[in-house]
Amino acid sequence: MKIAVCGKGGSGKSTISALLAKQMAKTKNVLVLDTDESNYGLHGQLGFAAPKDLMEYFGGKQGFKQKQRVPKTSPLGGLTAPGAAAGQQKSHFFEERWGFSDLPSEFVEEKGKIKLMAIGKIHEFGEGCACPMGVLTREFLENLDLEEDDIVIVDTEAGVEHFGRGVAKDFDTILVVVDPSYESLKLSRKFEELGKQAGNRVFFVLNKVEEDIEGDLLEAVDSSKVAAVIPADRKLFKASLKGEEFELELEEIAKLADFLDKN
Ligand SMILES: Nc1ncnc2c1ncn2[C@@H]1O[C@H](COP(=O)(O)OP(=O)(O)OP(=O)(O)O)[C@@H](O)[C@H]1O
Ligand SMILES: [Mg+2]
Repeated sequence: MKIAVCGKGGSGKSTISALLAKQMAKTKNVLVLDTDESNYGLHGQLGFAAPKDLMEYFGGKQGFKQKQRVPKTSPLGGLTAPGAAAGQQKSHFFEERWGFSDLPSEFVEEKGKIKLMAIGKIHEFGEGCACPMGVLTREFLENLDLEEDDIVIVDTEAGVEHFGRGVAKDFDTILVVVDPSYESLKLSRKFEELGKQAGNRVFFVLNKVEEDIEGDLLEAVDSSKVAAVIPADRKLFKASLKGEEFELELEEIAKLADFLDKN
């Protein structure tokens, strides 16, 4: 299952991605894919060092852009992925499909049943837009085959741009993290609409919920699509402030993992 964690800026996407990955890794093989070029902290929450940008595997942004311009049919148009057979070119960048065991180890941080990869980050002033990251994310997900117990959790950048870029079509499930704000509720409707167009299952994760507003939030979204209600948790907030690995376990995250397993 390929799960995208989407939502408004600051709604809790990275927090939910990290907690869910840890929970799901109790029974599954989990790949966390960090596609947010402006997020520098997710690895810490998982207890990992920062992974090398996958973009570097493809020659960095410049090399990647050059390969994009080469026609797909050209023998220069792709890199040799593990197990690639001559003449089999399915994309500009992947000559053969990848499974978890084919992922280039230099670009994967790994502990137990969790792997972490990052598409790429902005490192330098004036290095250009993040469009190549969107293309690589789409091609990577398109070319990734999963075994029955493999799960991919994609921590996305804020907003709906990945739908515009067409990345969303490769997700089975979209988890929209909704925090208690008018903007977040409005955006949740947009995600619902775009997810429908892309053919995704869309569920809501209501986050940072205090008791007195839970009812209001459940009224404001399609409650049949609410996969979890995560309380505002001071301990969680403090843990993320220090950038440390999340050690705490939330009952609601266990329920969310269970829900995803069954739906
Ligand atoms: N359930 C929660 N209880 C308390 N604080 C929370 C909760 N979920 C997230 N937070 C806090 O909200 C802030 C934003 O969380 P996070 O970085 O996960 O959001 P994000 O959606 O990934 O942000 P961005 O759009 O910048 O990627 C952090 O300070 C985090 O600790
Ligand atoms: Mg984030």
